Parts: sequence; structure tokens; C-alpha cells
Amino acid sequence: MSIRLQSLALLVLGVLVQNSAAYFRMSCSRMRIGRIDPVVNFGKVSPHVHKISGASNISPNSTFQTLQTANCTSCEIQADKSAYWTPTLYYQYPNSSLQEVPNGGMTVYYLGRGDNKSAIVPFPPGFRMVSGDKTLRSYHTTPVTYKQNRPIADRVSFACLDRQPQPETPLMTNTNCINGLRAQIQFQSCWDGRSLYKADNSHVAYMSGIDNGVCPPTHPVPLIHLFFEVLYGVTDVKQQPGGRFVFSQGDASGAGFHGDFLNGWDEGVLKAAIEGGCANVNDNTIGSCAPLLKSRVENLEQNCPMLPDDEKVGGLIAKLPGCATVSTGPDAVPDLGCPGEGAPGNGTRKVKVRRGKVSAWE
Ligand SMILES: *[C@@H]1O[C@H](CO)[C@@H](O)[C@H](O)[C@H]1NC(C)=O
Ligand SMILES: *[C@@H]1O[C@H](CO)[C@@H](O)[C@H](O)[C@H]1NC(C)=O
Ligand SMILES: *[C@@H]1O[C@H](CO)[C@@H](O)[C@H](O)[C@H]1NC(C)=O
Ligand SMILES: *[C@@H]1O[C@H](CO)[C@@H](O)[C@H](O)[C@H]1NC(C)=O
Ligand SMILES: *[C@@H]1O[C@H](CO)[C@@H](O)[C@H](O)[C@H]1NC(C)=O
Repeated sequence: MSIRLQSLALLVLGVLVQNSAAYFRMSCSRMRIGRIDPVVNFGKVSPHVHKISGASNISPNSTFQTLQTANCTSCEIQADKSAYWTPTLYYQYPNSSLQEVPNGGMTVYYLGRGDNKSAIVPFPPGFRMVSGDKTLRSYHTTPVTYKQNRPIADRVSFACLDRQPQPETPLMTNTNCINGLRAQIQFQSCWDGRSLYKADNSHVAYMSGIDNGVCPPTHPVPLIHLFFEVLYGVTDVKQQPGGRFVFSQGDASGAGFHGDFLNGWDEGVLKAAIEGGCANVNDNTIGSCAPLLKSRVENLEQNCPMLPDDEKVGGLIAKLPGCATVSTGPDAVPDLGCPGEGAPGNGTRKVKVRRGKVSAWE
């Protein structure tokens, strides 16, 4: 069964019928919004805006070690000081001004998946990865996963939650969704067992079926399967003829939706959760999982309030923060960074950090 969730009921059914769609999931409120990406642009300004959930001290120079010192996380399980992020969604009016689309955070799923799921290991300290390709602007049938099972582009999908159930789409096709448009991304759950991170993400690979199946022999170590859902209030903005939805990297197609994961788990807790079968609860919540329940909180926004923005990235803005140009595709758009500021990752752009907050860039 696919985890491209059509409805909760369907998933519950899958658990009961197959006894294999095992998982726990966490709600996360927003922690911070800004041009921050300590995985791809460590210590620098990201070329586009991200919406981050997780550890309260998330910053451009966050590492596993710094996340451990956070006093809270905007996700339910306080023993998880990881950070999770995706691009911000805007609505671009015909006059080219952009309005941030309302969003309350995200849901992070930890699923016990794959043919080798009994061997799943917890994310090691220092582990991080990115799923998705910010440069894409159309659906590509190649490359495909190991054993040629599925186009890798299937890692991204959109669910239009309308009055009637709508089929999921690989692109941001239906945007008139009364209960919101849900962007979804699946992560690689096969690890080479050696590198904590590689800039091209070749330390990890997708399972043959992306959300299930086997790992390639080059990446034999099974990780728990991560899956993000991000719900946007697309009908809360006043859509106008000629307007369009645009992700912060300049993507009006949805193909360039991506997700980042910077591990911050208390390794013992995640290990206990995996070994204790917490990915096996069938009530779709953290439910009866003792290792996770110990640090679970409910009032996410009160427990760990969102940090203020360092530059204007929300509300109504005249242009995309950074210097992405908006494209509907179909051609990919290389993310070259801002002219005169050096390419992202080039090291010429320095972030000044005061009290853990980006206060200026040069
Ligand atoms: C990096 O992060 C640490 C917090 O872990 C902070 O103390 C330090 O000021 C930051 N340094 C820079 C250059 O951003
Ligand atoms: C963590 O620190 C923030 C900012 O100082 C504060 O607002 C919040 O209440 C703290 N949370 C906890 C759980 O201590
Ligand atoms: C563009 O249109 C939006 C929506 O009608 C409006 O709120 C905004 O002020 C306009 N921007 C400019 C620069 O006129
Ligand atoms: C299952 O996972 C173990 C533990 O990492 C690994 O050594 C083994 O090769 C995997 N088996 C298969 C069939 O992928
Ligand atoms: C980095 O950016 C600087 C300033 O824009 C530029 O001169 C230099 O060629 C860039 N280096 C690389 C490797 O791209």
C-alpha cells in the first residue's frame, strides 16, 4: 500500500489488513521562517526561504551537536531535536506581488517500511539528507529507482483536499482545495552505512518502490522511512485570474518541492522506539509508545514559540526573498544564488549571527 495518503481511514485499513504499514507520526508547529538551510548552505544564507519545524535554536550553522542544546522543539516529541524544513509557498498576484499562503506547520511520519524493515537502524548523530530537487519544474519519468520500479520524481506529490476526494498529482495542478493543498515528500531510506552526508545525497538511496521495497546493494542499511506532509490554506488567499502559486525557490510547478532533515534525535530514544515496535502502533498516533510518550507535549506553539523573522518573508511581499526567478517550466532552473553574492555554497557570503539569530548579511 502506498503512503501517498488518500485518507486516514484508508491508512488505518492498511495497518489492520497488512500489519505492515507501521508508523508513528508527529505534529510540528513552525519554529522559524527564513533563508536558512544548515544542510545545503551551512553557515551561509540560503538562496531561498524555508519554513522550519523542530529544534528551537535552528540557525544557518546548526549541527547535530548544537541542536542537542535546544531548550525545546516545535514537534511533539521533545527527545527529538531534529530540524525538518521545506520551501515556503506564496501566491503571486497578476501584479507580481506575493502573499504567503497560510500554513500551520507539518506532519512528520516515521514509517517501518521495506523488505528489510526488521534491520532498520536509528539515524546516527550527524546524519542529514535532502529529498527532492529544487531545480525541477516538470515531472520526469527518469531517473528511476533501483530495479527500475518507479520514477524518482514520485517522491513528491500533492493532495488537493476538496469536498470530494481528488486523485493525487505529481505537480501543483489543482489549487482550488477547500480544505487545503497538501504537499508531500518521501525520503530515501537506504543508507550506505558510512557517510553522514554527501552534498549530492549519494550517501542515501530510495527503496525500489520509494515508500516500500528493497534497498540497492550499494546502500544496504535500512533507515526508518521519513515522510512529510505540509498543508497550505490555498483558498484562504484571494485567488485572482492570472495569479499562481509559487514555492520560494521560484517554482510555479511544484516539481521542485523538497524537504531537508537534520537529525537531532536522542539516539537511545529513537532506538527504543524502533525496537519497541513504536512504528507498529495502529492508532496512527504516538499512542502507546512509552519511549516517545515520556517527552511528548501537546501545546506545540505555546511550548516552543516561533522565532521572529530576520527579514520580511511573510505577509505581502514585492518579490521573492533571495533572487529566484519564477518559472513554470518545463525546463529545470539551476539555483545559482544571487549575482554579486557568490554562488550558494561558494563561501563568499557570510552570515552574521547575534544571539543565534541572523541579523544581517553581507
Ligand atoms: C554558530 O552557532 C553557535 C550555537 O551553537 C553560536 O554560538 C555561534 O555564534 C554561531 N556562529 C556563527 C558564526 O554563526
Ligand atoms: C525555550 O526558549 C524560548 C525562547 O527563550 C521560550 O520562549 C520557551 O518558553 C522555552 N521553552 C521551554 C520548553 O523551556
Ligand atoms: C497587488 O495585488 C494585491 C492583491 O490585489 C494587492 O494587495 C497589492 O497591494 C498589489 N501590489 C501592488 C504593488 O500594487
Ligand atoms: C538488511 O540490513 C542489514 C543491516 O544493515 C544489511 O546488512 C543487509 O545487507 C540488508 N539485507 C538486504 C537483503 O538488503
Ligand atoms: C565565488 O564567488 C566569488 C564572488 O562572486 C567569485 O569570484 C568566485 O569565482 C566564486 N567561486 C566559485 C568556485 O564559484
